[in-house]
Amino acid sequence: MTVSLTTAQIREKYLQFFESKGHLRLPSYSTVAPDPTTLFTVAGMQPFKEQFMGAPAVFDGVANKRVTTAQKCLRIGDIENVGRTLRHCSLLEMLGNFSFGDYFKLEALTWAWEFLTSPEWLGLDWSRLYVTIYKDDEEAFRIWTEVNGLPADHILRFDADENFWPANAPLEGPNGPCGPCSEIFYDRGPKYGDDTWAEYAETRESARFLEIWNCVFPQFDRQDLAADGTPVLKDLPFKNIDTGMGLERIATVVQDVYDFYSNDVFAPIVARIAELSGKPYEGPQSVSHRVVAEHLRSVSMVLADGTAFSNTGRGYVVRKILRRASRHAYLLGLREPALYALVPLVVQSMGEAYPELKEHQAKVEAAVRGEEERFLKTLEGGIQRLGGLLSGMERGAVLSGQDAFVLYDTYGFPVDLTMEIAEEYGITVDEAGYAESLENAQEIARAGSKYGKSELFGGNQEALEGLPRTAFVGYDDLSAEGEVVALVGVGERLAHLPAGSEATVVLSRTPFYAEGGGEVGDTGRLEWEGGAGVVRDTRKTPQGVFLHDVLVEEGELREGVTVRGVVSGDRRAIERHHTATHLLHAALRAVLGSGVAQKGSLVAADRLRFDFSHAAALTAEEVAAVETLVSRWVSANFPVTWQEMPIAEAKAAGATALFGEKYGETVRVVKVGGSVEYAGEPVSSMELCGGAHVRRTGDIGAFVILGDENVAAGVRRVEALAGDAATAWVRERLNAAARVAGLLNTSVDGLEARVGGLQAQLKAAEKDVVAVKRQLAEAQMGGGGGAAQTRDLGGFKVAALKLAGLEGNELRGAADKLLDQSGADLVVVAGEKGLVVKATKDAVGRGAHAGQLIGKLAAAGGGKGGGRPDMAQAGVTDADAALGALDSAF
Ligand code: SER
Repeated sequence: MTVSLTTAQIREKYLQFFESKGHLRLPSYSTVAPDPTTLFTVAGMQPFKEQFMGAPAVFDGVANKRVTTAQKCLRIGDIENVGRTLRHCSLLEMLGNFSFGDYFKLEALTWAWEFLTSPEWLGLDWSRLYVTIYKDDEEAFRIWTEVNGLPADHILRFDADENFWPANAPLEGPNGPCGPCSEIFYDRGPKYGDDTWAEYAETRESARFLEIWNCVFPQFDRQDLAADGTPVLKDLPFKNIDTGMGLERIATVVQDVYDFYSNDVFAPIVARIAELSGKPYEGPQSVSHRVVAEHLRSVSMVLADGTAFSNTGRGYVVRKILRRASRHAYLLGLREPALYALVPLVVQSMGEAYPELKEHQAKVEAAVRGEEERFLKTLEGGIQRLGGLLSGMERGAVLSGQDAFVLYDTYGFPVDLTMEIAEEYGITVDEAGYAESLENAQEIARAGSKYGKSELFGGNQEALEGLPRTAFVGYDDLSAEGEVVALVGVGERLAHLPAGSEATVVLSRTPFYAEGGGEVGDTGRLEWEGGAGVVRDTRKTPQGVFLHDVLVEEGELREGVTVRGVVSGDRRAIERHHTATHLLHAALRAVLGSGVAQKGSLVAADRLRFDFSHAAALTAEEVAAVETLVSRWVSANFPVTWQEMPIAEAKAAGATALFGEKYGETVRVVKVGGSVEYAGEPVSSMELCGGAHVRRTGDIGAFVILGDENVAAGVRRVEALAGDAATAWVRERLNAAARVAGLLNTSVDGLEARVGGLQAQLKAAEKDVVAVKRQLAEAQMGGGGGAAQTRDLGGFKVAALKLAGLEGNELRGAADKLLDQSGADLVVVAGEKGLVVKATKDAVGRGAHAGQLIGKLAAAGGGKGGGRPDMAQAGVTDADAALGALDSAF
C-alpha cells in the first residue's frame, strides 16, 4: 500500500490550511466535556457552544473569531454496530473550522472546496465530489454551482433529518445552537458499489458515496417548543460556521483503502491482534479484530483523559466498551489479558497529536490490564451460570432470549458463545428474543440524551416503581443495618440472588452515599446471616431510592433479610477530597476574582477535579496562592459543620449555590467554621451541598494542585489531591526528579543549571550540523552547480542534481543556489526522500510549471507533491526513480 498521505499528515495539512486562512489553532479539548447535555464530547463544536451564543471569542488571552481544531470525540449511540460495519467508530477525530460571527457560507464552502481539490492540499478529483444541502438553501446551491463550479446534478436536497445539525433539531432539540448544513460526499468509484448518486436520494446508505465533511451554518438558538407544538428557533446574535470532517473517513478516501480498518492507523493494530491470537484478519471472525482495535483506541483516550472504570456515568460506559472488546478477544481465543499490550500501538499512532496519551501510557496500560483480569473472572462466572441453566433443561429445548441477554448484560457474555455452549447440550437460543431484549435496552440508552445521540444507562425504571425512599444515615455512620426492600435484575424484580450473581439491591436504610453533586457513589460490603457481598457502586433515583450494585459472594440474598452495610475506607479519602473541593472553590474566587463559577466537579477517593469559568491559564503564582490558602485552612483545623435550613435563610447567610442547579425548599449547608486571610480580606467557605465531608479541616492533610487545563472555551479544569494521595504524588515526583538528576550526574538542586548547559550544547551542535550540511551540499554541487546534469527538455534548460544525505531546508537552499548559478530555466534537486523543483520567472512566463512537473516526478518516485508554478516540493520513497522520469515528463 502506498500511503500518499498518512492520517497524521492529513490532520496537519487541515490545521495548516485553516491557519493560512486566519484561524487560531487550538489543541483538542478533553473527551470529558463540562457540558452537562452529554457524557462525552461528541462534536468539535461542543467546547464552543457559548461562543456560538455570543460569548467573546477569546482563547487563553488570544482574541480570534476563527478557530480550527482536531477534536477527539466519542459517539457511543451505535456502539453495537462498531466492528460489524466497516465505517462505524466510537472514537473519532473531527477536523473542524469555526467562525463566531465572522465569515459565513461563502468562505466556508469555497475553502472546503479549495482544501479538498487543490493539489497543494488534498488534490482530490473534483468530479468525484457530491453534496447535499438543506431543502431550500438557495445560497448554498448557488455557491456550490456558481462559485465552486460543481454540476447541479451532484447536489441533492434533504429535510431537517439529514441537512440540519443536530439532526431534526427544530422539532426534537436539543436546545442550543443549530442550523442547516451541507454535507460533502466523495465517490469512491464502482469498485465499492454500482449505485448512483441519484439513487442515494432514496437509499441514504452507500459504501461508494462516503460522507466526509459536514458544513453547518449555526444561526439559530433552538428553544422549547411553543405551546402549540411548533418549533421555536430564535436567531443567534450572529451567524456562525461549524464544520466537521471525520479524519478516519477522509484518510480512507485519500489512501483509497476499503475501510477504516485498512488505513495507516488501524492496520498495524489489527495485524497485531491477528498475531497475538493466531487468528487471521479474515472472514466472519474479522468482526472481533475490528471491535478490539477500535474500542481500544476509545478506551485508551478516555482513560488518558482521567476517566476511570466504574459502574456509573462515563466510567460505566468505558467499562462497557472495554468489556465488549474483551469478549471479542475471548472469541478470538485469547484467555489471558491481551488488550493492554496493544496500548503502545495506539500511543504510537496518536500520541503526537494527543500528548496526554503519551503522558498517561503506563497508567492506561495498568488500568486496562486490571479491568481485563476482572472481566475474565466475570466471564467464568457467566460460564458457570450458563452451565447451571443448561443442565436443568431437556435436549432440544430453547434458552430464552431474556436469559441470553442477562448473560450478556450482567456477565458481558457474548451471545455467540452462549449459542456455542448451548449447542453442546443440544439446546438452541431464542435469537429473536435476544435481539428484542437488546433493542429494548438500547432504546432506553438512546433516550438518555439526545445531543449527538450519546447515551446514559437507563436502568430498570419500571421495576423500581413504588419503592419507598431510602433512609440515608451515612453522613455520620459508616456502618448501619437495613432491610432488603427489593432485588432488581435486568428489567425484573428478583426474589433471591444466588452467590456469584450481581444485581441492584434496595435497602430500607443505608450508610452508602449515592453518587451525586460530583461525589462518587460509595463502595463497601453487605453482610447478613449466612452470606456476604460486595457493594460496587451506589446511585439513587430522583425519588430518593438508593440503588446498590451488589455482587453476592457467599450465601444467598433474599428480600426481607436484614443486612449490615459497611462503607469502604475509601469514604474517608472521598470526604477529604470533598471538603478540599469547597476550600479550593473559595480560594479560587479569592485569588482569581468572583468571576469564578463552578461548572462541574468530580470528588473521588483518588483525586478531585474542579471545572470553573475563567478565561486564562493559571500562573504559577496563582496556583501557589490557592494552594497556600487551602493549606492555611487545613492547619487551622477549623470544625466543618452541616445543617439543614430553608433555602432563603441559606442564601441570606451568604451560602454559595450553583448557578443553574435546582434546589428544594430545604437545603443542606456545609460550613467551614473559620476564615483565612487573603490580601487583607477574610475568606470563608459555606456552600449548599449534599455531600460527605471531614469533621475538621485538619483531617484533609496534605493538599496539592496537579495542574490546570482548558476543557471548553472559557472553562478551566483543576485537578488536585488531598491526604495520602497528595503525599504519595509528591513523593513520586521527588523520586522521579532524583532519578533524572542521577542520569545527568547532578543533584535535584543542580538540575536547572545542568539542563540549561545541555540545551546550549545542543544548540551549538545543531548549528554545526547546519553548517556541515551546507558544506556537504556545496561540495556535491561543485562550483557554480557544475555537478548538475543539464539538458534541454521541452524548450527549457533543465538542471538536475542528486544530493546524498540532505533534505528539507538544505534542498530548498541548494535549489535556490543552483537556479542562481547554473543559468538553467528549471532546476530539480533530489535528496533522500524529498524533491524540490524551481523555475525562473521567465520560464514560468513561457509556460513552465514546477507544481505540475513535480506531480509527475513524484508519482514515478512513489510519492505525491504539488506547488506553485515557480516552486514546488514533494516527498518520495525513491528519489532516483523520480529523477529518472525527468526526460519523459516534458
Ligand atoms: N457539528 C457538526 C457535526 O458534528 C459539524 O462539525 O457533524
